[in-house]
Amino acid sequence: MGLMGKGSAQPRVIGVASGKGGVGKTSIAVTLATLFAEEGLRTLLLDADMGLANSQILLGCSVPKHMGHVLEGKASLEEILVQVRPHLHLVPGASGVKSLGALDEAMTHHIIRAFSALERPVDVMIVDIAAGISPSVLTFLKACQQQVIVMKDEFSSIADAYGLVKVLAEDLSLNSMALVPNGVASHSEGERLHAHFSSVCERFFGQGIRLGGVVRQDSWMSEAQRRQQPLIALAPSSQALTDIRHLAEHLYATKLGPLSGDTQFFFERQLTGTVLA
Ligand SMILES: Nc1ncnc2c1ncn2[C@@H]1O[C@H](COP(=O)(O)OP(=O)(O)O)[C@@H](O)[C@H]1O
Ligand SMILES: [Mg+2]
Repeated sequence: MGLMGKGSAQPRVIGVASGKGGVGKTSIAVTLATLFAEEGLRTLLLDADMGLANSQILLGCSVPKHMGHVLEGKASLEEILVQVRPHLHLVPGASGVKSLGALDEAMTHHIIRAFSALERPVDVMIVDIAAGISPSVLTFLKACQQQVIVMKDEFSSIADAYGLVKVLAEDLSLNSMALVPNGVASHSEGERLHAHFSSVCERFFGQGIRLGGVVRQDSWMSEAQRRQQPLIALAPSSQALTDIRHLAEHLYATKLGPLSGDTQFFFERQLTGTVLA
């Protein structure tokens, strides 16, 4: 993939979000994580969609412990990590634990801070975030350096993506966001969708939103979910994988802005420089 600058001390944290559910967040988050890991980048995939923790299902792995144990003080973050592929570790959400379905802000901050204590070197972290604009979703997204907004070509998905960008724009620059039209018939259709969305952003926020990449409709994507195998293993030459590879390259090539003063993943570690890459 030709990714540059491996092994930098500052992990790149990429949040994958959407206004509406069922638009392909988890599929894209899991596939991005496997692609970065394939490049030899030390990658973490955090399943932050706590109610419906399904990254682990897509990856076909069982998880003995999850974030619920960390929040209850029964396990450390390091103890719940599951290695799913070379260079790729999953941080399991709290599947089946109902009370964690709706994380409050304090719990979300607790989770984010737990990463500062993680001593394992990390190059890229992908955060699969729940749909919507709850305080927990916004806290997670603001703790990421890049926000990927996944959107389908459906009125409700476009409207909800707009709603998400609107609340994020109160605190974040649109520079750190990237729009990803998913499940479209062609690249040109995705580009049209982006151009329209970005022109609305320009009108209301005085700034457009970058196109992260277009992911075409591809039945291999649902097949991967059915078979619980990552796309990279099941269909390495599929359209969707090619598209998500371009997205990964785009994200990795994007310069990171300065960190905001709010809670950040790995924040304390960056400040104290305790990472030995
Ligand atoms: N580009 C695509 N082409 C075909 N099917 C897709 C694509 N992206 C996602 N899907 C399918 O759409 C459904 C929802 O995807 P998922 O990743 O679970 O969404 P979310 O995490 O946003 O709820 C899944 O069945 C998935 O396989
Ligand atoms: Mg999901």
